[in-house]
Amino acid sequence: MRLVLLGLPGAGKGTQGEHIAAKYGIPHISTGSLIREAVASGTPLGREANGYITKGELIPDELAIRILHERLKEPDCAGGWILDGFPRTVRQAVFLDEQLAQSSSAVQIALDIRISPDEAIRRISQRRVCSQCGAVYHLTYYRAKGKGVCDKCGGDLIQRADDTVETARNRLEVYLVQTHPVVHYYAQSGRLYSVDGEAPIEKVFADVDSLISGFAAHGVQETAGGAR
Ligand code: AP5
Repeated sequence: MRLVLLGLPGAGKGTQGEHIAAKYGIPHISTGSLIREAVASGTPLGREANGYITKGELIPDELAIRILHERLKEPDCAGGWILDGFPRTVRQAVFLDEQLAQSSSAVQIALDIRISPDEAIRRISQRRVCSQCGAVYHLTYYRAKGKGVCDKCGGDLIQRADDTVETARNRLEVYLVQTHPVVHYYAQSGRLYSVDGEAPIEKVFADVDSLISGFAAHGVQETAGGAR
């Protein structure tokens, strides 16, 4: 299965991506996480990307495409993947389609996780992430058991540099201008599906799971342009 997750910052792409990966045994690839790792390691790419991320801007298409292209070459991607945060521009979406067409494959599901901008700000400003393993928590909705400490590895919980309210507002604006056209791109080719992302995490996953299982049962040809 080749699936891309779309949705406002904070919609739950990372959260749902982890659930899908755990159930279906395919890698969850977050370009945001790959970029943050490059920034933390101080690589040339990370240094170039850092200025964009901290302002809530997209990194240039060439950089994003290069990061994804390298990641998709890894052996664990042979049986499919979940992309979280890519494509973020129509140019990136076209690149992905062209790249996949070379191996006679395609994105099968573009899943738009829908939440309101107000909910996005509430989620982003209260998100905390583990500085060691990257696990994601929320101060109200999904709290760690120990104060400020990751349940999974004991690492310190921190706020992402781009999770301030001011930067989050810019990220929403950037999404509406640069990424929302990607939703239309997939709608036009009959690959767009959506779920209500404002339901509790487990309910959102139940909806996502039902969509994916139905898709797997009916196959690509039957569902192209099918139910939403
Ligand atoms: P990226 O890391 O992709 O950030 P994003 O798209 O802004 O998405 P988020 O990670 O903020 O949110 P999410 O939807 O994953 O939500 P989450 O599951 O964490 O990108 C960061 C930056 O990298 C970009 O701004 C850009 O600069 C750059 N970048 C990345 N890819 C790029 C590309 N392709 N091209 C150019 N630049 C690129 O959930 C959020 C919070 O809500 C959590 O606390 C979670 O616990 C909670 N939560 C989740 N679901 C629910 C629910 N159903 N109910 C209640 N709480 C919930």
